[in-house]
Amino acid sequence: MELLVHDGPGEVASTVAGIVAAQIEAKAGPFSLSLAGASTPQPAYGLLREAEVSWEEVTAWLGDERWVAPDSDRSNGRMVTDILFAHVPARLIRPEWGPDLDPHDSAARYEAELDALESESNGHDLVLLGLGDDGHTASLFPGSSALAETERRYVATQIPETGEPRITATYPLLRRARLVLFMVVGQSKAAALRSSLAGDTPAGRVELDDGVIEWHVDRAAASLLS
Ligand code: 6PG
Repeated sequence: MELLVHDGPGEVASTVAGIVAAQIEAKAGPFSLSLAGASTPQPAYGLLREAEVSWEEVTAWLGDERWVAPDSDRSNGRMVTDILFAHVPARLIRPEWGPDLDPHDSAARYEAELDALESESNGHDLVLLGLGDDGHTASLFPGSSALAETERRYVATQIPETGEPRITATYPLLRRARLVLFMVVGQSKAAALRSSLAGDTPAGRVELDDGVIEWHVDRAAASLLS
């Protein structure tokens, strides 16, 4: 695991965007890219829209998704499409959603698509993750039963406090990544980052079979680290 402290959010975004572009360019053949949701990664996605990248070989997917309509302004799939994937010739696979579809069924179907992608790209090349101020990553929340999953790669879950339904990659899926980049910015994440680096949060418990984890954080998020 490597911790890289950057001056501010802009440097986190430009560094991560540069790594994503370089990793894609360095690999011949299909490339599997997992995307973080919510707000932190958005500047990096904007920089990638303007970058010179061989997107044709890239298949992107979502580390987690809120159980909302695809055009909802809370949808991670809509966010990454609006900022990046509507503008580049990469393939983005999104989980199915429907008012009458069970999220467990959607997670199982998505898992099958991701298994096929893993075979096609000979592994998952790069996984981008964020960090919640409670130490969650993707939709692996403290106290969630999804933390105990040892077989399924993608499951339905919910935010324990609010019951908001989600679907999420699990540790059995994340551990298959070659490279994981966490992006963490802002003072509000400082305590969660300190706990995560000590292995005391769901984010901190991400482990890889044979890969590298890099934490890209800004000085504000790192302010409680000794
Ligand atoms: C989600 C994300 C989640 C996110 C953290 C940090 O769907 O909400 O996948 O894990 O990365 O909550 O969110 P911010 O980047 O908005 O602080």
